Amino acid sequence: MKRHETLQPLSREHQKGLVLAKRLRDSSGGSGQERDRALAAFTHAWNRELMGHFADEERIVGPLVSLEMRSRLLAEHAELRTLAAQAAEPGAALNPAFVEKVGRTLHDHIRWEERELFEAAQETAPDALDALHPVIDDIHARRPGSRPYDPEAGCEVGGREEEAGSSDDATSTP
Ligand SMILES: [Fe+2]
Ligand SMILES: [Fe+2]
Repeated sequence: MKRHETLQPLSREHQKGLVLAKRLRDSSGGSGQERDRALAAFTHAWNRELMGHFADEERIVGPLVSLEMRSRLLAEHAELRTLAAQAAEPGAALNPAFVEKVGRTLHDHIRWEERELFEAAQETAPDALDALHPVIDDIHARRPGSRPYDPEAGCEVGGREEEAGSSDDATSTP
């Protein structure tokens, strides 16, 4: 099923999440430095994007699905929040099994959301998703990585405007 427009920013973030998950899993068989870098990339993305992404899913998708699915969503988010906290601790990269677990848990969670959770929300509550359409602008504004990629500009749609805007802000600061 084609992804509902309201869920597209979250689905675009899933693509990046899967790349992070693969890097974590691949690094678990590599050197300590590779695991260290993969965990650092995950922690960076967690703070910038994933934390907000999780909150948006709970706010937007959670109320539209069955109690069973909502419970699974919250339980898997809780597990990943715990793993993210542990991933940021010094020495986390020393444990290849832990790094593999973070990658596998993130991968499996995203796959479940794309294959089951989002599909269920679209099937059972298309009108509610239509009504939630304005949240797209809010998500795009808070997390530019959720915007569609513009191949001509070589960045996410609106990315350059934002850069121009932030530099204007910087020059106008007294
Ligand atoms: Fe999620
Ligand atoms: Fe997600």
